[in-house]
Amino acid sequence: MQRLRRTRGSQLLRDLVAETAVRPEKLIWPLFVRWGEGVKEEIPSMPGVYRYSVDRLGEAADAALEAGVGGILLFGIPEHKDEAGSGAADEEGVVPRAIRALRALFAERGKSTLLIADICLCEYTSHGHCGALNGAGDVDNDASLPLHAAAALAAVRAGADMVAPSSMMDGVVAAIREKLDGAGYAQVPIMGYSAKFASAFYGPFRDAAESAPRHGDRKSYQMDCRNGREALREAAADEAEGADILMVKPALAYLDVVRALRARTDLPVCVYNVSGEYSMVKAAAREGWLDERRTVCEILTSFFRAGADMVITYHALEYAAWLKEEN
Ligand code: PBG
Repeated sequence: MQRLRRTRGSQLLRDLVAETAVRPEKLIWPLFVRWGEGVKEEIPSMPGVYRYSVDRLGEAADAALEAGVGGILLFGIPEHKDEAGSGAADEEGVVPRAIRALRALFAERGKSTLLIADICLCEYTSHGHCGALNGAGDVDNDASLPLHAAAALAAVRAGADMVAPSSMMDGVVAAIREKLDGAGYAQVPIMGYSAKFASAFYGPFRDAAESAPRHGDRKSYQMDCRNGREALREAAADEAEGADILMVKPALAYLDVVRALRARTDLPVCVYNVSGEYSMVKAAAREGWLDERRTVCEILTSFFRAGADMVITYHALEYAAWLKEEN
């Protein structure tokens, strides 16, 4: 008779044979930085997630260092938006200022974590689309590339360790690579939001980043959730353009894509456990319908089991705190 002793033995034995582990250094924590001063405001649809002004970032940075997360992914909410989204490349914009402030703080603490700048125009355009619009009101892919490249350069000049273009414009990885290489930043990696699906799960984020499109939707540049093979083509294109890390987003409803991408590429694979996935758990936990801790651990584990090397998640700090508590 065959017996599966391993999984039924002691906790020590189960830990020894476990195939995956969720380590804080494998988690990336998203952080919303907004204009203004003295601001720390909770995002109503994302309990436990805040927007900070640059002068209040110290608290967030210390929490991230204490948690030992692998990185911080920065999103900016600027005071002024315009048609073209020109604020995205402003060296005095919220994100470059936040990066300089965090760098200074890390130097003081003698400790640091990776600073990753999300590169997109939707937080900076008055219409909320991820690129500039043409006369017909459609996103003009090619015309949007130089501003993405300039935004990436501004973030890197400020001290970003990595940039992550999230708009799904074709050719954006190559445009950023060329710009960074030309400016002497050939060593700075690019994480492509390679397979980003048009998703209802981004709802709370658009509240958080004040980036909901004013008209239409993002279906002309984000992927159709019915297409798994197309996601692999998108990822292959990013890889060919020089991406160093490939991403699948959202996470939970797309684990088949993560698994398939893992089998196709030798690059690191990242998954983004997005705002709606976070808020669903928070809402159910608040009602007492789900055990939050167990649910989060199970969800995070599923990403690594599917083949992810790293996960972007709003749960990063609380997960790290739970681990500490258990040890
Ligand atoms: C676009 C961007 C989005 C997210 C990250 N970058 C929103 C969108 O495409 O509408 C979503 C992240 C989340 O839902 O947590 N700049």
